[in-house]
Amino acid sequence: MTFDTSVVFGNPVAHPCDLLALLVREGAVAKGKLADARLSDLDAALGGLVRKVAGEEDFTGKDGQQLALHTHGKAGPARILVIGLGKSRDADKSMDGLRIAASRAVKAARAAGAKTLALAWPAGESAAGDFRAREVQALAEGASLGAYRFDKYLREKKPLKLSKLQLLVAKGPALPALTVLSAAAAQGQAVADAVCLARDLVNEPAGKVTPRALAAEAKRAGAVYGFSVEVLGRAQIKKLGMSLFLGVSQGSAEEPQLVKMSWSPAKSVSAEAVALVGKAVTFDSGGLSIKSASGMEDMKTDMAGAAAVISAMALVARLKPPFPVHAYFGACENMPSGAAYKPGDVIVGKSGISVEILNTDAEGRLVLADVLAWAVEGKPAAVVDLATLTGAIMVALGPWTTGLFSNDDALAEELLSSARAAGESAWRMPLPPEMEELIKSPIADLKNTGGRYGGSINAALFLQHFIQPSGKSAGESPAPAKIPWAHLDIAGPSSIDRERGYTPRGGTGAGVRLLAEWLRRRASAH
Ligand code: BES
Ligand code: MN
Ligand code: ZN
Repeated sequence: MTFDTSVVFGNPVAHPCDLLALLVREGAVAKGKLADARLSDLDAALGGLVRKVAGEEDFTGKDGQQLALHTHGKAGPARILVIGLGKSRDADKSMDGLRIAASRAVKAARAAGAKTLALAWPAGESAAGDFRAREVQALAEGASLGAYRFDKYLREKKPLKLSKLQLLVAKGPALPALTVLSAAAAQGQAVADAVCLARDLVNEPAGKVTPRALAAEAKRAGAVYGFSVEVLGRAQIKKLGMSLFLGVSQGSAEEPQLVKMSWSPAKSVSAEAVALVGKAVTFDSGGLSIKSASGMEDMKTDMAGAAAVISAMALVARLKPPFPVHAYFGACENMPSGAAYKPGDVIVGKSGISVEILNTDAEGRLVLADVLAWAVEGKPAAVVDLATLTGAIMVALGPWTTGLFSNDDALAEELLSSARAAGESAWRMPLPPEMEELIKSPIADLKNTGGRYGGSINAALFLQHFIQPSGKSAGESPAPAKIPWAHLDIAGPSSIDRERGYTPRGGTGAGVRLLAEWLRRRASAH
């Protein structure tokens, strides 16, 4: 990000800066009185201006309200923007209100051409030190996330002049050490940078982000952040027996790329390893079961799962958890051509399970089947995949919510609560065994579509077969221990068609903050 975020002690009214964003709760102005001490200080410095303007504009501090003031040299800041946060909600443990307000502040700084922005927020809403640090992290995240723009192809860019964001804290008894708060700001900045890396990869057109280019991005991230990256081409993919992955890719002129990213601590217990898998279809035309023109418009985003795991690895290298983390993706295009795989084809992939292809547009589950089969070979303690897998998940949950499927209640709860804490929306979906019959084929073990209803569930049930090599010859040997697995269908939230809070239209980086929070919790639980 272009600006630098720091935490400083300071009195907002006296603090010199181009713009001060003063975040206040609802009721900060009530019945013509100023209930927030910082507002009354300001009002005194400005000779009653705050009360006057607040009265004229009916400003009370409601969520979304803003009050803009010029100080004409009578206070430290040249301009002040009072931002309403609404009522304090205990339920909002995610602190998303702070992220949104910080992004509003940065947008105001952009409009005003401010170089320095100071931000002060309601002090002492909770005495807990950890709470204050999390507030700082959320503010740093929201500021950077809200400043993001994908403008590299625009001739007319409106560059952000902001160079410095200062989070202002008042000295007080419950305040954690400045070093703790500064670390929280740095963490927020790092998380936002990782989210913006994923946004860039998703926003970049498919003509640029080819399978090779995506693999090169993983390599570059590995070199920059410090994790190892292995890239395998067609011949090696074939050697691994990944015929489903190769089937999807065979209609394209671009060579498929299989990527494995790894981070390991010096001393680690490999039984505790975590595996991440991302869908990496760099363009999904549907193949011979071709999509409509409007259905295809957005299909450069079909690698958002891979973008999320690359970004998550950048944060893993910074977090340095006491267990290894491996991340995988199989990158390819899904294209129609004389060489393309066909409806009716039967393909046996890495796991040995045969699949009848009924619809070449249900390609994500085929690639994931082979990559998941590879990822579970090392028997990780948990596997999480992220995929823009089905349009049906948006029919079920709307455009902004991730569908979470899991064979393990504890893992599902960990991920749901991490999502909540990180300000991402996720909802658990079922894996009903009685729906298995919908994906059984008369001529193969499975088919790749399950009919009109419950499309996202059919897809998740399909994936589950490749986590647990089902004991065909039951009774011969004891069933292998279950590998906890979760599948996140991010087809909705991975890209959006209009701005929402601190998320601009286009690629969102969905899944990155969720994964970062989940891995942080697992690391500190060790
Ligand atoms: N990549 C799509 C899913 C998708 C749709 C993601 C819209 C983002 C926005 C996936 O490969 C796909 O085409 N799924 C089909 C499955 C069907 C053929 C069973 C779908 O959802 O229609
Ligand atoms: Mn498709
Ligand atoms: Zn797809």
